[in-house]
Amino acid sequence: MKTYLITGGCGFIGSHFIRHVLENSSYSSILNLDALTYAGNPLNVIDIEENYPDRYKFIKGDITDEKLVKEIFSQNEVDQVIHFAAESHVDRSFDDPMQFMKTNVLGTTILLNTAKEFWQKDEWISKRFLHISTDEAYGSLSLGEDDKFTENSPLKPRSPYAASKAAADLLAQSYFESFEFPVIITRSSNNFGANQYPEKLIPLMILNMKKEKTLPIYGNGLNIRDWINVKDHCKALLAVLEKGQVGEIYNISGEQEFDNITLVNMLCEIVASLTSKTKDHFKRYITFIKDRPGHDLRYTMDCSKVQNETGWKPSNNFMKDLTGTVQWYLTHDEWVRSCEFSLQKWMRAHYDL
Ligand code: NAD
Ligand code: TYD
Repeated sequence: MKTYLITGGCGFIGSHFIRHVLENSSYSSILNLDALTYAGNPLNVIDIEENYPDRYKFIKGDITDEKLVKEIFSQNEVDQVIHFAAESHVDRSFDDPMQFMKTNVLGTTILLNTAKEFWQKDEWISKRFLHISTDEAYGSLSLGEDDKFTENSPLKPRSPYAASKAAADLLAQSYFESFEFPVIITRSSNNFGANQYPEKLIPLMILNMKKEKTLPIYGNGLNIRDWINVKDHCKALLAVLEKGQVGEIYNISGEQEFDNITLVNMLCEIVASLTSKTKDHFKRYITFIKDRPGHDLRYTMDCSKVQNETGWKPSNNFMKDLTGTVQWYLTHDEWVRSCEFSLQKWMRAHYDL
């Protein structure tokens, strides 16, 4: 039995990853450490609790609580740490950078240091600390630029969120350089799929269409993101854990770039096809609003390293996956209701509509 300590497993990507591991490797058990912030939702793991009562355990707690983290390591034989827990929303990082520094930087340091303290050096060969990061650490590319970020590109983060993730990446890397501690870092592009807290672009737009509310687009809508299906991302992470090299960084993207207005138009079309309304009915809710501060124009990454070393490839089924995602948000009312209170509070405070 291999024991994975997953941090942030009640969030979007973490909950998909736990399900993926439990479904695909019968000799594994999961400890899920999650503070249940506004972005953590017990409903994201309710099926996991029911289906895997012997292989899954939830621990409510904060990664910055060093005493608790030490307790977890002393009471369990942790083989691998998969570190998702983070404050993850760029817009919130402008208002509360301190919380981002605390969770993303201090929390990561506590996890790294505790794992290093509890794992015997002669076991490191079979241990892994997988630190989940983002393309945003590289900064922004210009439109039409052919260059892609590679794992050797300099880190030039431009928001407090991205800066906190870049700082955590460097810390994680320093544990490999200084101690040969078995760290691997992955940087992924924008994920989409079920269970994403609806402050992020795709679920926000779908749910606002459902409620016949404004679809707020920052600036001119021409900022480009590279989208990856969250399930594809999880497959890549497991492949990296199994076949990746310690001390290495792996870029993971879906190789599916769209500017925001094109994507929102696609969402209008899909929602229309699943309801009795027309595409134009939803498009009239599109409203261009004041741009995000320092809004990164474009991220795109060269992902040949992860593909060559692990054999993983993105599935490239964008329209099918996006349609499935829309269907999920339109049919999961209980889940949507569970986010409603904190979401409305955020929307009122953030959007001047
Ligand atoms: P999320 O916001 O959906 O989930 C974060 C989870 O971490 C929540 O369950 C939350 O309760 C938990 N958490 C937050 N602070 C905590 C703390 N101090 N202690 C314990 N738990 C805490 O985030 P996500 O979208 O699932 O992202 C997961 C990771 O992937 C993050 O590290 C993020 O930076 C990275 N990432 C996300 C994307 C994306 O598109 N969502 C892209 C690239 C990288
Ligand atoms: P988001 O989902 O917040 O992810 P990230 O900032 O990590 O890329 O935003 C994706 C893109 O959508 C980004 O260019 C900002 C834009 N956006 C809007 O135009 N309006 C919105 O209301 C939101 C949340 C995002």
